[in-house]
Amino acid sequence: MEKSQGKRENWGSRFGFLMAAAGSAVGLGNIWRFPYMTGKNGGGAFILIYAVFALVIGLSIMVAEFAIGRRTSLAAVGAYKKYSKNWTFAGVLGVLSAFFIMGFYPVVGGWSLAYIFKSVTGLLADQGAIEGIFGSFISASGEPIIWMAIYLFINVFIVAKGVAGGIEKASSILMPTLFVLFIFIAIRSVTLPGAGAGLEFIFKPDFSEVTGSTFLAALGQAFFSLSLGMGCMMTYGSYLNKEENLPNNALLVTLMDTSVALLSGIAIFPALFAFGMEPAQGPGLVFVVVPSLFAQMGTLGPLFSVVFFIALTVAALTSSVSLLEVVVAYLMDERQMPRKKSVSIAGGIMVITGMLSSLSMGALSGVSIFGVGFFDFFDILTDKIFLAIGGLLLAVFVGWFVNKEDLKDELTNSGTVSFGLFEVWYGVVKYVIPVAIAIVAVMGIMAIEQTSLMIFGVGLIVLLAAISKKL
Ligand code: PHE
Repeated sequence: MEKSQGKRENWGSRFGFLMAAAGSAVGLGNIWRFPYMTGKNGGGAFILIYAVFALVIGLSIMVAEFAIGRRTSLAAVGAYKKYSKNWTFAGVLGVLSAFFIMGFYPVVGGWSLAYIFKSVTGLLADQGAIEGIFGSFISASGEPIIWMAIYLFINVFIVAKGVAGGIEKASSILMPTLFVLFIFIAIRSVTLPGAGAGLEFIFKPDFSEVTGSTFLAALGQAFFSLSLGMGCMMTYGSYLNKEENLPNNALLVTLMDTSVALLSGIAIFPALFAFGMEPAQGPGLVFVVVPSLFAQMGTLGPLFSVVFFIALTVAALTSSVSLLEVVVAYLMDERQMPRKKSVSIAGGIMVITGMLSSLSMGALSGVSIFGVGFFDFFDILTDKIFLAIGGLLLAVFVGWFVNKEDLKDELTNSGTVSFGLFEVWYGVVKYVIPVAIAIVAVMGIMAIEQTSLMIFGVGLIVLLAAISKKL
């Protein structure tokens, strides 16, 4: 049904919403990015800082996003605009973030999709060759682009079907499957001989290597993993009916997301240490460690590997559809385009950005913008700058510009459900989060290597703010 005007689409059921929101949160961020960020940032200490950020800042921001989205029944841009035109830019920043994340996300989604098939076509035959295979696969100019395009096409197909029919239906089946698969894989990993060192790496924090950039990395990871700071949860909240308990849903989503991240740490590091691999190897980590784990399992290995990469692809899909939905909702709400047309336009541009990102691993590796290749450009810009600043803007907006009684009304469903921690939440949003993010951002930005990219990112936000009334 094409509906850009008239009655707003709604989730079909409470379970469906929860699965869609959890599906958005749980994705490559948990299973691909979390382990390699943990590996790069020294293990346990990073995890601890990440968990505190997720449970205090992330959870509070999610409650705020749900509240604003449902209150206004509008996606990011419209929701801000409804309060004040001065704030429109914060919504636009969110749409831009979704767009940029989709600049690299489908590339990794495509790798994962490809690995389902590679698992049974000889990838696991020689454990020593796995790392080399990954390197030559991602740096090729043809194959990874085809997988990326197929992956993107699946997104377009799901999102074109709309909220309840597409996103919700897919998530309700795929998310529970993922949970079961993942627990199974974690059990296998911790029972490997030599697994203890991996558990120690993730559970015994060593603060000696923690710097300003560790904090920024952990904050960015918390926002990225919980799908926050760019209007995604706001958009999902806008399709939610008035009976749902927002704080409870936010708590459930946050707990699910954090547990899947931890679970993937538990699945990956014991195996990594058992094999004597390097924890700080970066984005290839999951694609090298997990197949190595399965390569040792003999005839059952390929089967497990297929299952794992299906799970990873599924998790990625339920997230990237939410990213695409942010862009699509903007085109529908603000540009009055029908859903199908919005999806085609957004998908079309994303194929191009995805190609640039993919090629930056090989043919275009010499091309740098602000000192990094396309893939890193999209990744660092969103994860290290846009999401944190998007979260900061949202906290300031909700804490200082939205009527407190309205918030209370929305979060208690006009007094019909209780939210005992309302005052605490409000204080955290109004005072703690703005100050905390500002400190982390300043410390992190000073410690980070990509200075020109940082200046560009911050400059872009200032520019958006300056032209905000025209947006
Ligand atoms: N949370 C998703 C993940 O962990 C990524 C994402 C970020 C999705 C922002 C939507 C919005 O993979």
